Amino acid sequence: MNAGPGRIEINEVGPRDGLQIEPAFVATDDKVALVDALSDCGFARIEVTSFTSARAIPALADAEAVMQRIRRRPGVVYTCLVPNLRGMERAFDGGADELNLVMSVSETHNRANLRMTREQSTAQLLAMLERAQQAGVPCNVSLSTTFGCPFEGDIAPAEVERLAHRFAQAGAAGITLCDTTGMAYPTQVAELCASLAASLPATAPLTLHLHNTRGMALANALAGWQTGIRRFDAAVGGLGGCPYAPGASGNVNSEELVHMFACMGVDTGVSLAPLLEVVATLPRVVARELPNQLLAAGPRLRTHPEPAWLAGHFGQGETERPQPLSP
Ligand code: COA
Ligand code: ZN
Repeated sequence: MNAGPGRIEINEVGPRDGLQIEPAFVATDDKVALVDALSDCGFARIEVTSFTSARAIPALADAEAVMQRIRRRPGVVYTCLVPNLRGMERAFDGGADELNLVMSVSETHNRANLRMTREQSTAQLLAMLERAQQAGVPCNVSLSTTFGCPFEGDIAPAEVERLAHRFAQAGAAGITLCDTTGMAYPTQVAELCASLAASLPATAPLTLHLHNTRGMALANALAGWQTGIRRFDAAVGGLGGCPYAPGASGNVNSEELVHMFACMGVDTGVSLAPLLEVVATLPRVVARELPNQLLAAGPRLRTHPEPAWLAGHFGQGETERPQPLSP
């Protein structure tokens, strides 16, 4: 599905990227209820879970049960992350509509996260793309540490382009550029997105996966959008982070992304009110406090009753404001 200029697609990754790093195990019932509530908000896609090794990602060890029990809302694409062929077969059995394959552009982060060299991962992903084509299940490829690696620092854009083209040619249904630990900045995002979007085939549209580790996620999303990116990953409540990337913290908040684009007149398909209701349930789900600016302030046009003292300071028809009593 290609989003037009006035419309963007949000892939809600909170249940996967969000819950994978939470210290308290979230009960299967709560995961299912979270996905079901998100289904009713209008997201184009929901990344429900990952079929990884339970030792690597214990928080998502109940992937089969979650996939079996969620309510499928027509029109929503339910996707799952898979790190290897074994995970892919599990995801097929679990009925995933689409899969998200992953590897890192950084050699060190790839070894830490997937216990493989980039060469091994590339071979594995190419085999997975072939297998998925036989099964008729579309696969997106997420490239981690695209804008910087917590171990290696800057990443050469040419390496990102090389891998993106390789997987697009091998049949990937999309390529996601992941800012795993919030190292991206707006001009960098704009340059890489513009260059890649111009050279990738239309069959592999780009998605931006941003983390707000350094407070630049919304600015980066806007920079990407201005260059024509129409697909974004985001996590409800700003949950998220990779357990194998030091200093990783939350994704761009889904509700902030939806609110920003709504202010700009860009249709995300997502309704803010039910989404904020989901945000309000999160502290109970993840068993920790989760301060949230947008939940506290409300949407920008939430107005308040004028202060009662104002009436006493202005007579009828009086337009000039009196000097304030105190600064
Ligand atoms: N699902 C379930 N179990 C799996 C699995 C999968 N997809 N892949 C491997 N395993 C199991 C193996 O059977 C083995 O189990 P055992 O120790 O009980 O025999 C164990 O996991 C280790 O298997 P091995 O092939 O040696 O893998 P590894 O230890 O080299 O780990 C990965 C490789 C890819 C499986 C693991 O690093 C992983 O799941 N990483 C995911 C990281 C992630 O999701 N990061 C965040 C998102 S970017
Ligand atoms: Zn992430």
